[in-house]
Amino acid sequence: MGPPGPQPISIDGTEAPTFYDSVGGHDTFEAIVSGFYARVSADPVLVAIYPQDEWAAAARRLLMFLEQYWGGPHTYSEVRGHPRLRARHVEFTIDRRAHDHWLAHMRAALDDVGLTPEADQVIWSYLQTAAEMLINHPS
Ligand code: HEM
Repeated sequence: MGPPGPQPISIDGTEAPTFYDSVGGHDTFEAIVSGFYARVSADPVLVAIYPQDEWAAAARRLLMFLEQYWGGPHTYSEVRGHPRLRARHVEFTIDRRAHDHWLAHMRAALDDVGLTPEADQVIWSYLQTAAEMLINHPS
């Protein structure tokens, strides 16, 4: 799964804002990921799946990934290489229940941040599609 689309080339020297910029850049994504991981790390269903004592590092990886995906800095690829999300999740048992819990915490984190309904819908649709794709175990 690649970036949302080609980024516009600046012809007259003025940069078209990316989706990343339009929702508030780093601070917004950090707030989403921080709120999300606070919930994940308190959810027994997900605690059973995530490597323990790595919450801050895991949060940084998700933050870098989402920032890059939406047009922000490309730190994720510099540090981690190609995202290969499905391959990177194969070692974790992700069934429908884990998927539902993951998305519920993301939904709550997005609600806390209070994006515009349009921006919220764009991110939420993407996360739902990506999460569905990462289920790798029957319920
Ligand atoms: C469907 C439910 C999901 C579960 C149960 C799940 C679980 C996990 C686990 C256990 C890890 C390892 C934590 C770590 O980095 O140490 C991880 C990593 C990661 N997940 Fe998920 N995940 C889910 C969905 C998603 C979705 C929808 C995305 C992106 C839109 C995503 C993006 C990532 C990224 C970027 C990493 C770090 C990969 C790396 O660089 O190693 N995950 N996930």
